[in-house]
Amino acid sequence: MAPKKPLVIVTRKLPEQVETRMRELFDARLNLDDTPMTAAQLGEALATAEVLVPTITDHIDAALIAKAGPNLKLIANFGAGVDNIDVQAATDRGILVTNTPGVLTEDTADMTMALILAVPRRLVEGVSALEEDRFRGWSPNWMLGNRLQGKRLGIVGMGRIGQAVARRARAFGLQIHYHNRKQVGPDIEQDLEATYWDSLDQMLARMDIVSINCPHTPATYHLLSARRLKLMKPSAYIVNTSRGEVIDENVLALMLEKGELSGAGLDVFENEPAVNPKLLKARNVVLLPHMGSATIEGRVDMGEKVIINIRSLVDGHKPPDRVIPAML
Ligand code: 8YV
Repeated sequence: MAPKKPLVIVTRKLPEQVETRMRELFDARLNLDDTPMTAAQLGEALATAEVLVPTITDHIDAALIAKAGPNLKLIANFGAGVDNIDVQAATDRGILVTNTPGVLTEDTADMTMALILAVPRRLVEGVSALEEDRFRGWSPNWMLGNRLQGKRLGIVGMGRIGQAVARRARAFGLQIHYHNRKQVGPDIEQDLEATYWDSLDQMLARMDIVSINCPHTPATYHLLSARRLKLMKPSAYIVNTSRGEVIDENVLALMLEKGELSGAGLDVFENEPAVNPKLLKARNVVLLPHMGSATIEGRVDMGEKVIINIRSLVDGHKPPDRVIPAML
């Protein structure tokens, strides 16, 4: 007799080929109409499933994890960031948590670079000028932005994505600076010609562009606080493709409004899907609806990682992308 397939509950609609493979391998309960689950539905799913596959839109907090049934072995997050899951609470109950690192590095770095280009060069303002019929012909002083070549880029968080951003930015002639919990190895630093700043405060005060590429953890919540944002040069730009919570969004919006910063490129927000109305009105920002990793290839690769993590567990092995509280 074929072994019983594990009950895997998936909270959102995933790419077709991922769902097809999940159906083959698991007793997969899929969310075909993609309506996000309520907390009560998530609680029920945790109580019955052997594996839950959530996404960033599911807040799996300690109260929900307390509802987990005896069968729940794994929360296999469809996403790299795990700030939507209380990893400590899961670990305390002996539930494994995995994520999907690596496969969305290059896509997220591309989007970061797109924002680094778009904001100082006023790309979206230019598009709007045409759409609103405000183009009266070329003029020497019209739509002037700022040159990238030779400027200082300060990367906050030099992990996989930070390094991939640095590689791209070097090709555009930016000087690479970074702050990280730990200094990266000399080989990586040399390769990227990157300068390490132990003091985030000192780095922020000297950068022309700051890119946020660290994960959101309790230690990075409002890392870019009011005090730190005010250390930045008024001519500087800030780009965030990580998590909205890393920046004090309200203060950022006020500073942009008052011209205390030159502009921002934001793919993520503190209270998604809500966006601070001041940001929506600001002229000097490019806002995107959390699409940093939104490529077809990326989503399929993420699904593949989720399947590998589940299959490893089912086959009696350690899933490769385990997240433990000490990593956060
Ligand atoms: C994901 C992300 O698509 O993986 C991450 O951390 O931020 C996104 O780009 C999302 O988290 C899916 O759950």
